[in-house]
Amino acid sequence: MTPPLINKNYQGLEQLATAAIVFDKNLKIIYMNPSAEVLLELSHGQAHNQNIEIFFEDHKFFKLALDSATKKQSSYRENEYFIKSKQNKTICVTLTISQLNKDPGDFIVELIQMDQHLRVAKEERMFIQQQANSELLRNLAHEIRNPLGGLRGAAQLLEKELGDHSLEEYTQIIIKEADRLQNLMNKLLTPHQLPAYEETNIHEVIERVRSLILSEFGKDITFVRDYDVSLPEIIADREKLIQAVLNIARNAIQSMQNDNTQNMQLKLTTRSERQIVFHKKKHATAIRIDIEDNGPGIPLNIQDKIFYPLVSGNEQGSGLGLPLSQNIVTQHKGMITFISQTGHTKFSILLPINNGLNDLEANNNE
Ligand SMILES: Nc1ncnc2c1ncn2[C@@H]1O[C@H](COP(=O)(O)OP(=O)(O)O)[C@@H](O)[C@H]1O
Ligand SMILES: [Mg+2]
Repeated sequence: MTPPLINKNYQGLEQLATAAIVFDKNLKIIYMNPSAEVLLELSHGQAHNQNIEIFFEDHKFFKLALDSATKKQSSYRENEYFIKSKQNKTICVTLTISQLNKDPGDFIVELIQMDQHLRVAKEERMFIQQQANSELLRNLAHEIRNPLGGLRGAAQLLEKELGDHSLEEYTQIIIKEADRLQNLMNKLLTPHQLPAYEETNIHEVIERVRSLILSEFGKDITFVRDYDVSLPEIIADREKLIQAVLNIARNAIQSMQNDNTQNMQLKLTTRSERQIVFHKKKHATAIRIDIEDNGPGIPLNIQDKIFYPLVSGNEQGSGLGLPLSQNIVTQHKGMITFISQTGHTKFSILLPINNGLNDLEANNNE
């Protein structure tokens, strides 16, 4: 089949290093420049007349982006967005959607591939920083815990000596606050329990989380499940993974509840990933778990810090959920990433399939 002739209007895009795709208001692809053909592993001829959404797993996101580009009459831009090539390769890009003309209503998507090295270096830097922070915090917690015990004991003694019961109110405050602090310190210092590695079915982990969430938050939440049931089992500490996923899912529900989100939805997806690099290692295959909600999004001012201990956007929060999830996933040689905007937050847990962990390692540690 001969590819359709290239519309003269788009000849200016031919030489661009940026991948550009033009589509019409029915989402049909009209034109793709050579850079887009290379990036998306699909020729102009093959792409012509196909639906642009074949490159976007997340149709809802795409519709929102398109809506925003149309309504605001300016480009919609998303940094570090993941799209799929025709060969199912995940590519990290900076994505821009703009309306080319109102009539007939054509749009252009521009994609600039984000250098994987750059992205990994950034994640690596953040990770090292987090490790340093956690250590600092652990040391600090140690230093605080000991005098706290003394403080509490002294308040108790004082209470006994007090003749006046009306003053007990004050000693009680000291004791209660000391306990609260002690509790927090204990959480920060959770001993590194020995992991119990075993063959683990990732879907059992997720289903467990689902039932825990259901019993904790009731039935106002719609679950959408999209599992790749062909995924192999991995060697993992099942209970810890449940905790890691649960913390993320809980945050999603809590933020939706605090925001009074209508039609609260939690989407759980599993996929396999190939040839993916993180923690300076290339992994041939990995499992990806996505946890998505349609809540308010992570507050912008804490987005860079949410994996740090004690960072919380929630008055009652301890800020320890995500650091703990990250610790657990790191123990499994994996990684957590997220994207977030109003109406859509997605956390992804990546777990390498051949992670080198086995029950032997656990036993050797004993
Ligand atoms: N899905 C989400 N939607 C919106 N905000 C989120 C989401 N997940 C995490 N957050 C933000 O990240 C913060 C840190 O989470 P976490 O470490 O679990 O601590 P905590 O839940 O105790 O506040 C939360 O307080 C919240 O502001
Ligand atoms: Mg939390």
